[in-house]
Order: sequence, then structure tokens, then C-alpha cells
Amino acid sequence: MADTALPTARPRRSRKPLKLLFSRSRIRRRVRELAAEIRRDYQGRTPVLVAPLKGAFVFLADLIRALDMPLEVDFVRASSYGTGTKTAGRVALTDISTIDVSGRPVLLVEDIVDTALTLETIRRHYLARGPADLRVCALLARRSALDAGAVVEYLGFAVPDGFVVGYGIDYAERYRHLPDIHVLEGP
Ligand code: XMP
Ligand code: MG
Repeated sequence: MADTALPTARPRRSRKPLKLLFSRSRIRRRVRELAAEIRRDYQGRTPVLVAPLKGAFVFLADLIRALDMPLEVDFVRASSYGTGTKTAGRVALTDISTIDVSGRPVLLVEDIVDTALTLETIRRHYLARGPADLRVCALLARRSALDAGAVVEYLGFAVPDGFVVGYGIDYAERYRHLPDIHVLEGP
């Protein structure tokens, strides 16, 4: 009986209140501006864009289409230990890349630079592979990280503290599908 019964509705997890931070049209405009800058700087070169999964996949997808230039795409898997909204101070990197970047221009594409630990871990990993040069494009970065010296050559928006979601960025795997970027409110 249990096998043939229709699936029962899953209990609804409570949805935290969201406050709009960047609308989809604002994001689209900013992505086009970043793309224009990158296209100009990489004229005549074919950069390898490397994005950490999973948060950066939506930004990367829009960025490469706005770039409209020869490029290659690769991924690494990065996860901070710890759950919820706190970074636990260590990053697990799984190299799932397939492109040899030695002698190539590498552009790291990040969704959000928070403490910059993820970014620095990936940067070190890639610098050890002898790229021609390595720059960073992040859609979002915390003001605190920038003040502390995080280097982001192409930055979408600086953001204040507050957990952000949407446009690929999750909270406990939820909210990635939202077309706008929001701040998660509440405890
Ligand atoms: P770090 O501290 O290493 O963090 O710069 C970078 C990674 O942590 C995730 N992160 C967030 N994810 N909302 C999220 O959904 C946030 O406000 C947030 N801050 C950091 C994100 O995956 C990022 O790549
Ligand atoms: Mg994440």
C-alpha cells in the first residue's frame, strides 16, 4: 500500500524573509559592463575561465555569453567546511579541471568573496600550475574582504555584511534559482 500510494507532500521548510539587494536588470547591466572590460583587456588572447562550483555557475553562464569572445571554461569544486552561514576556516578543493593552464591566461570567476579564503585557496592552486597570468572576477565581494586586501580585478558589487542568496548563491542548497540577489533576513 505504502509503495503505490501517491507521494505525500513533504513538510514545508519555513522560508526566511528575503530583502531585495540587486534586481535581475541591475545584475544584467553590471555583467555586461564587466564583460566589456574583460573583453577589452583580453583582446587577442583566449583566457581560461575557472569557476568554483556550485555558487558561481549562474554568473559564469551569463558572463561568458556577454563576453562573446574566444574563451575556455573549467571548474573546481570548493567547499568551506561547516554549515549554515559561517565559514569554518578551511576550504576543501577538489580539482575536477580538464584544461592545462600552464602558459595560459586564467580568470577565476567567483560568486561572492566573503573571507577570501576560497579565492586564495584556488589562486594558490592555480598559480602552482604556471599560468601566464591570473586575475579574479567576482560578482560580489564583502567590503571587509576588500578592506583587508583581497584582490579582485573585476568586481560586480561590493556588499555589506549579511547572508546573500539568489543568482546561483545558496543558503543550505536553497534559493539558487532566484533571478535576483537578496539578503536573507532573520535568525
Ligand atoms: P570565503 O569566506 O571563502 O567564502 O570567501 C566564499 C564562499 O562561501 C560562500 N559564501 C556565501 N554563500 N551567501 C552564500 O550563499 C553568502 O553570503 C556567502 N558568503 C560566502 C560562497 O559559496 C563563496 O564561494
Ligand atoms: Mg556556496
